[in-house]
Amino acid sequence: MCGIIAYAGKNNATDCIYEGLKNLEYRGYDSAGIAVKRGDDIFVCKREGRVKNLEEGINGVRGRFAIGHTRWATHGKPSDRNAHPHFVGGFYVVHNGIIENYAELKAELLAEGRSFFSETDSEVIPHLINKYYEGDLLCAVALAVRRLKGSYALCIMHENFSGVIAVCNKSPAILGYGKGEYFVCSDAPAIADMAEEICVLCDGDIAVITEKSVKIYNDRLELQVRERVANFASKASLDLGDCPHYMLKEIKEIPTAVQNTITACEAVDLQKLSAFLQGVDKVVLTGCGTAFHTCLIAKDWVEEFCSLCAVAETAGEWRYKKSPVNEKTLVVAVSQSGETADTLEAARLAKKYGARVIAITNVGYSAITRIADFTIPVVAGAEICVAATKSYCAQLISLWFLIAVLAKVNASTYEQLFKRAYTMPQLCEKTINGLSLDALCEKIKEASGVYFIGRGLDCAVAKEGSLKLKEVSLKPGEGYASGELKHGTLALIDKSTYSVAVMSDENLCEKNLSAIKQITARGGKVAAVCSCKEYIKKLLSVCDFVISIPKCDRALSPIISVLPLQYIAYKVAVLCGCDPDKPRNLAKSVTVE
Ligand code: AGP
Repeated sequence: MCGIIAYAGKNNATDCIYEGLKNLEYRGYDSAGIAVKRGDDIFVCKREGRVKNLEEGINGVRGRFAIGHTRWATHGKPSDRNAHPHFVGGFYVVHNGIIENYAELKAELLAEGRSFFSETDSEVIPHLINKYYEGDLLCAVALAVRRLKGSYALCIMHENFSGVIAVCNKSPAILGYGKGEYFVCSDAPAIADMAEEICVLCDGDIAVITEKSVKIYNDRLELQVRERVANFASKASLDLGDCPHYMLKEIKEIPTAVQNTITACEAVDLQKLSAFLQGVDKVVLTGCGTAFHTCLIAKDWVEEFCSLCAVAETAGEWRYKKSPVNEKTLVVAVSQSGETADTLEAARLAKKYGARVIAITNVGYSAITRIADFTIPVVAGAEICVAATKSYCAQLISLWFLIAVLAKVNASTYEQLFKRAYTMPQLCEKTINGLSLDALCEKIKEASGVYFIGRGLDCAVAKEGSLKLKEVSLKPGEGYASGELKHGTLALIDKSTYSVAVMSDENLCEKNLSAIKQITARGGKVAAVCSCKEYIKKLLSVCDFVISIPKCDRALSPIISVLPLQYIAYKVAVLCGCDPDKPRNLAKSVTVE
């Protein structure tokens, strides 16, 4: 949610910030803005909408220091006026996060005779810095941030200061070290190929970046030493290649993401993980959106293969419950970005209650890895499209690995279980290459509502298929258990609706068939996604469309059966004239609560 970036160095800061903002745009695309220090004055350009809207305004502007922002609106509608940077009395600020006490701060500042230009919470920050400034920017920033409650990653410039100050608290801020140039940004891919090394700022850190050096202080202004690591993000991962959209590119990358995750899991210290899992008697799986759907699948795996009680709950709900957890409870927090506010808070609470916490994340340096006791990697590569596709499949591999180790701890064999995933990369490839769904997508495009149904593991896949379609094509609908159809949703079915039945468990096919018949009897059209050869013929006589997918290990089928649903979502979005990479009102990395 919101991307921030800053630059100090020998090259033209405007170009570097513009490039970085384009790379960060998936974090928010309601508005974009940039401030560039040119000698003693600071040039500002802010535009509602996409980063490219800045292009004309910043043409020819040169400087050594700059800050930039791409916004996902929380306080105040998307507009030029509410776009960052916000500035007061020569202080310029870009902000990612939410200032929870902004209303009382604003009232205090208004009472002192100050005036506000925007409707944002962020504008209190330059006012506070201005209020506390007595000639030393670092001190003023330290005093100002002490007044803030909430989450914030900030980049700050001042007319009389040759550099940038960055602040981090519960929102990601990463320092980048290039050749004769330094960066601050929300996410390492933004500075792919510009910074060779990165350093992740910790909560409370204040970094001072000039052309020549970077210094990091804590909130008491004591110098800190933070580890620098190689920046593995590469520009290649941001290139679309021959694909028109990241969503399609990322679906095609699924076989590689799955294979790389299998390899990475096998490099995890098995002894250490087994010891950590010893004595676990209950598992709580938590995450948001797509990550939560992988939790639903993993919950069934825990019950089936580890014979343990398991709960799957969205992080935004679980964190407000009085869920009984103790030191024997394993809490698994799943997050592609590792920055989702609700998931982070759920993990923090689990730690507070004494539970053991494992993070499953695609971003090895993200906040969740610093909260968890143990991290199991997801190696999907940079996922730029807001809709999660390859990360879903790769997360399931990491969860499968965890369950295999947990099953071993509970007396089964890890090797036999995990090995069952070895065929998945090829099966993903075969499924993706075999998809021929354009005619079906044309029909779904015309539907008034699209309903996804499934039983057992397929129910979670149905929910994921529905989330994906809603998110990128704005088609209304729902994903739910086949058995629930007659308990409510059937009322919505008529000839204008389309339903998609996911059927990858042959033991449940007959039951699903009867649910399909309940839909067709009401005039609704159905497409079935099925891997059971013997049922294809029956389905052809009842359904409007049949998608035959390769047969695979029953437990791992959610990695395969989701693939046609992801493609349908993508194609329908394109047919409906939507940008599948940047869904309306959404953004990647939901760092606000
Ligand atoms: C998926 O298509 C969504 N954009 C969204 O549900 C996402 O999965 C969710 O916000 C969780 O993100 P995370 O995995 O980065 O925590």
